[in-house]
Amino acid sequence: MSSTVISNIATLVTNDPSLGDGSPLGLVRDAAVVIEGDRVVWTGESGRAPATDDRVDAGGRAVLPGFVDSHSHLVFAGDRTEEFNARMSGRPYGAGGIRTTVAATRAATEAELEENLTRLLAEALRQGTTTFETKSGYGLTVEDEARALRLAARHTDEVTYLGAHVVAPEYAGDPAAYVDLVTGEMLDACAPHARWIDVFCERGAFDGDQARAVLTAGRARGLHPRVHANQLSHGPGVRLAVELDAASADHCTHLTDADVDALANSSTVATLLPGAEFSTRAEWPDARRLLDAGVTVALSTDCNPGSSFTSSVPFCVALAVRDMGMTPDEAVWSATAGGAAALRRTDVGRLAPGARADLLLLDAPSHVHLAYRPGVPLVAGVWRRGVRVV
Ligand code: NIG
Ligand code: FE
Repeated sequence: MSSTVISNIATLVTNDPSLGDGSPLGLVRDAAVVIEGDRVVWTGESGRAPATDDRVDAGGRAVLPGFVDSHSHLVFAGDRTEEFNARMSGRPYGAGGIRTTVAATRAATEAELEENLTRLLAEALRQGTTTFETKSGYGLTVEDEARALRLAARHTDEVTYLGAHVVAPEYAGDPAAYVDLVTGEMLDACAPHARWIDVFCERGAFDGDQARAVLTAGRARGLHPRVHANQLSHGPGVRLAVELDAASADHCTHLTDADVDALANSSTVATLLPGAEFSTRAEWPDARRLLDAGVTVALSTDCNPGSSFTSSVPFCVALAVRDMGMTPDEAVWSATAGGAAALRRTDVGRLAPGARADLLLLDAPSHVHLAYRPGVPLVAGVWRRGVRVV
């Protein structure tokens, strides 16, 4: 197996405190990384790097783990420019817009959905995303949900069944019957294609009892829970996520002290999605409050055509630093190791021997520039599973 050393790295983020300066980011200055096949086999100071077949000169720039985007909705058709325009003139965001995308997605061919998905994935990759989760939720029939998951599974192992995104239009008068469908026939068709089950627990979507029914049915079929929780208002989502040991409670914008305590005493990650607050002009989630309470925080894009049409993790990092009280170090950790924790993965989100060789070269001397230079395309190179793809 051939080996490559990337050397002359001004700042290396390993996310392994035992490897570097002892901080959570495990920073190593004047560093090198050695890749063999699809794995990292060595990290340390440049001068001590073992001999390898190939050499890449990082040119005094920064290297960090590829971003782990643990929350996206990429299987859809159509766009919602008009809804965004209306919001920017003052109309509030509501879950109802989801049905616009449901209609467009149902009407699309599989080839159209695949093309849109592939385009968004290429866009995300150029901005440094090497692992991503994505969901169904714009089909809301047995066939359309299963189709979305089959498509997603061609591109990632992190596939989430979100039949419980909103009540399907056909069931508007009988939400209980829709929950029966989501936990019955639809689950049967979808479970083989997914790893996770998710529910939008919110006014206008599903209440706490309905959400519990959805998640426990999924769990009984071997799917692990994650929850869209407390996005638009206070509600039972976060507590339910903790109760069911969900890997992640996502959004976490409106939290009580009891919600924060529950998260702090659990292994459920709080995944913050600042693209959604940006695009809905909503109040920011308070990352500082969560971090100070000891909660594990992830940062992801929530890329979807309604509430957050960005595939850019660097943009989310910059927002989190500017508006959510995170330091640049914390935001970079949350977008890499935090995302991995939200997917209960240990092979990605860090650059230590044995980890997957998913890494980014930034056109900057340190990771701090991701927040310091917002909106600038700093990702100069991407390796995925040891292969340079950007
Ligand atoms: O995560 N909150 C629910 N789902 C998406 C929004 C989807 C949409 O508006 O199309 C979200 O923000
Ligand atoms: Fe979402």
